[in-house]
Amino acid sequence: MKILLLGKNGQVGWELQRSLAPLGEVVALDFDSPGPLTADFSKPESLAATVRAVAPQIIVNAAAHTAVDKAESEPELARTINASAVGVIAREAALLGAWLAHYSTDYVFDGSGSTPWVEDSPTGPLSVYGRTKLEGEEAIRASGVKHLIFRTSWVYAARGGNFAKTMLKLAKERDRLTVINDQFGAPTGAELLADVTAHALRAAQQQPVLSGTYHAVAAGETHWHDYARHVIEFARRAGQPIKVSLDAIEPVPTSAFPTPAKRPGNSRMNTSKLQQTFGLTLPHWQTGVERMLTETLA
Ligand SMILES: NC(=O)c1ccc[n+]([C@@H]2O[C@H](COP(=O)([O-])OP(=O)(O)OC[C@H]3O[C@@H](n4cnc5c(N)ncnc54)[C@H](OP(=O)(O)O)[C@@H]3O)[C@@H](O)[C@H]2O)c1
Repeated sequence: MKILLLGKNGQVGWELQRSLAPLGEVVALDFDSPGPLTADFSKPESLAATVRAVAPQIIVNAAAHTAVDKAESEPELARTINASAVGVIAREAALLGAWLAHYSTDYVFDGSGSTPWVEDSPTGPLSVYGRTKLEGEEAIRASGVKHLIFRTSWVYAARGGNFAKTMLKLAKERDRLTVINDQFGAPTGAELLADVTAHALRAAQQQPVLSGTYHAVAAGETHWHDYARHVIEFARRAGQPIKVSLDAIEPVPTSAFPTPAKRPGNSRMNTSKLQQTFGLTLPHWQTGVERMLTETLA
């Protein structure tokens, strides 16, 4: 089995290098990979040559334009990376008869209400990022490729920066913090996503009928304020020199932090389809966050 992994150095891409390894030979690329094979999503046509040269049975795409605010001022680049390039890969994969695993986002929804979104809930992206990610999904479906699209949310990893690490840094420096408390979702570890991807791909190999879109987020729900408090208290109990007291972490509405891109308030995702189809259990968000913190604080 040959697997082409694109975007190997992102949060999810890095973990996929580990989780896909037992499934077969992994050819892992990034946009500046040395050698003849390139995977620059800003040049979609070059991706066709790469897919043809590797001729994999599975393609996993973890590359994306994920700078949500920056995308508002560079919509064409975001569209090229998140939609056009994805369409090229999907069409090439369809020609090969390969599977394509890809990631999408809670940002395809408009964030209204408080009910967890299901896979066929009406979409209504509020931002360039959300719109272009939705266009990427649509390009995959239109290509006829066998696919697994995992919509996820609030991704973090031990490697690189993330919200929890930022909160910890601030909690050590400041005696007051303000954190948003009106956006709801589930922080989801890159490790978990990578493991879910490998399990689902293995099952799907034998059953093309499993091709489709799945919501893949950790269990439970929180908002950024509650998430920050959890992280800071965990670090305090672990003996970290935390300056801010719990009472001095102030909840504020989204409007207190204006950003170029509008964020959805309701990012709750119903994961029943994924769990039932693949016989998987998604752990509570706190489990993964505490594991990441334990690694980070060590
Ligand atoms: N992060 C989240 O909270 C979140 C939430 C929902 C869904 N998702 C989706 O989950 C997937 C994985 O996200 P992630 O968190 O792992 O994102 P990430 O860490 O930003 O990884 C994305 C990767 O794509 C690479 N990339 C950017 N421009 C590229 C180009 N022109 N050609 C090739 N590669 C390029 C990035 O490289 P550089 O870092 O060098 O730019 C990075 O390695 C994405 O599809 C994303 O949309 C993420």
